[in-house]
Parts: sequence; structure tokens; C-alpha cells
Amino acid sequence: MSILDVEGLSKSYRQAGGESTLAIENISFQVNEGEFVSLVGPSGCGKTTLLMCMAGLIAPSAGRVVVKAAEVDGPPRNLVLVFQEYNKSLFAWRTVLGNVLFGLEVKGKPAREAEEKASYLIGLVGLDGFERHYPWELSGGMQQRVAIARALAYEPEVLLMDEPFGSVDAMTRLELEDGLLRLWKELGTTILFVTHDIEEAIYLSDRIYVLGRRPSRVIQAVEVRLGRPRNQLTTRADASFMELRNEIYKQTAPRLSSGW
Ligand SMILES: Nc1ncnc2c1ncn2[C@@H]1O[C@H](COP(=O)(O)OP(=O)(O)OP(=O)(O)O)[C@@H](O)[C@H]1O
Ligand SMILES: [Mg+2]
Repeated sequence: MSILDVEGLSKSYRQAGGESTLAIENISFQVNEGEFVSLVGPSGCGKTTLLMCMAGLIAPSAGRVVVKAAEVDGPPRNLVLVFQEYNKSLFAWRTVLGNVLFGLEVKGKPAREAEEKASYLIGLVGLDGFERHYPWELSGGMQQRVAIARALAYEPEVLLMDEPFGSVDAMTRLELEDGLLRLWKELGTTILFVTHDIEEAIYLSDRIYVLGRRPSRVIQAVEVRLGRPRNQLTTRADASFMELRNEIYKQTAPRLSSGW
């Protein structure tokens, strides 16, 4: 059953000189309850714009987003966005525990219950023992895990993630991918994951929507039928993984094989 519907969404930004930039044009896709879906697209194609519209943080120029049969016209209660620049989105003046508690305080949870839930989430992202640390005392990957735990504190049914692993090193990235898959399985949250990394999208997802250059549209929908649980070594070496990768590369970067 579909939990998230994006219907004919367009967004143009008005520039200072009066001209406008069309960031996304007539984008439509669906995400079913409990699915892990990725959106891939080149830099600047409008991925963040699309997520901001979906999270009700900016208004689309045309079309609509529907979450659980309700049209989005402001931030929905059951959907949370993990921002692209997580290090800017964490509260620098709050500890790890304080950051995660924030969502629970917003929800008005009693203090004791909130602390228990926050500790559980901190454990879930593997940060036991770091509750009293400040964000600047943590590595990039750890900060990202705090951002994820904080988002989960809102108990969202839908989690939107904007290139969440874009600024960590390659090894940390693989660990974060596996950690996220474990969380997803345990919590049953629906995840829409944005990345420009085609292989990351295949590794994580049930389905991938491929976006073209700006103004972007969905140019391809790809079903990923690789088994789960996935494994960084064996899944990525699977023949069907490579087939999917080649298929998507051909769509997005047709010049790759021919050079300059
Ligand atoms: N607030 C804004 N005002 C004006 N133009 C904007 C604004 N935000 C984004 N744009 C423009 O919209 C287009 C899409 O930007 P967006 O940030 O959505 O792309 P993206 O796919 O997320 O890029 P990246 O992969 O680099 O994060 C770009 O041309 C950008 O300049
Ligand atoms: Mg972006």
C-alpha cells in the first residue's frame, strides 16, 4: 500500500534579478509502506528541492505530495527529514543525549520516558557511552548517527534522508549503510534515501527512481530484486548487482564509455 505519493511536482525558484530557475519538473513517484526506496540523480538536479517540498518546508510551484492520504501543506507529523549537512543541523550546544531528547521534548513525552527512549535510540545507532559528548567531540560518521537517532526520536513513519553519507570516508560509509539497513529492519520505518551514488542506491534499496539533469524528471524506475540481508562483499559482487549498475549508468552517464 502506498504511504507516499508525489504527484506532478514542479518547483521553480525566483532569482534576485526576476528570472526563475526551474529545479524540478513534473515529478511523480510512489513509495509503499515499509519500503526502502532511493532517488539518484546528478549534483544540482533538484534532489534537495524535492525533499524540502516533500517535508513541507517549501511550497511546490505545481503538483502535490500526499503522505498517508493527507496532502502536505506544512511539515507533516509522521515524516522527518535528515538534512544533507548534518554537521550544521545538530545542536552544537546540546550533548548527544540532548540532541536526541529534542524530538521527544517536542512531542511532549514525560522526562523519564523521554530519557529511556533517547538512550534506546543512542544504543540503536551504536553510540552507547557517548551520551554526554558534544557533536564537535565526535567523528563525522558518529555525528551522522546522532542526526539519525534524533530524527527517529520523532517516531516518523517516513524517514527522508538527503545524501546522509556524502561527507564521510568510504569505510565509514559502508558501516553506516549496514547500520541503517539494520535500523530499517528493526523499526519498520519507510525510508526514502537520496544519493548521487548509484551503487549505494542499489545496495540499500527495494526500488530506485533515477532522476535526469535539471529540471529533473524521473527517467527510470528500477526494481532491485537482490536478496536480504545484504552483504558489502557478496551483494556488490553479485552479477545482477553489476547488471543493474550498468543499466543505470547507461541512462545517467551515456558518455562514460566513450570518454571526452
Ligand atoms: N533557495 C534557492 N533559491 C534559488 N535557487 C535554488 C535554491 N535552492 C536550490 N536552488 C537551485 O535549484 C537547483 C537544484 O538545487 P538542489 O539543491 O535541489 O539540487 P541537488 O540535486 O540537491 O544538488 P546536490 O546533489 O549538489 O545536493 C540548482 O540549480 C540550485 O541553484
Ligand atoms: Mg542536495
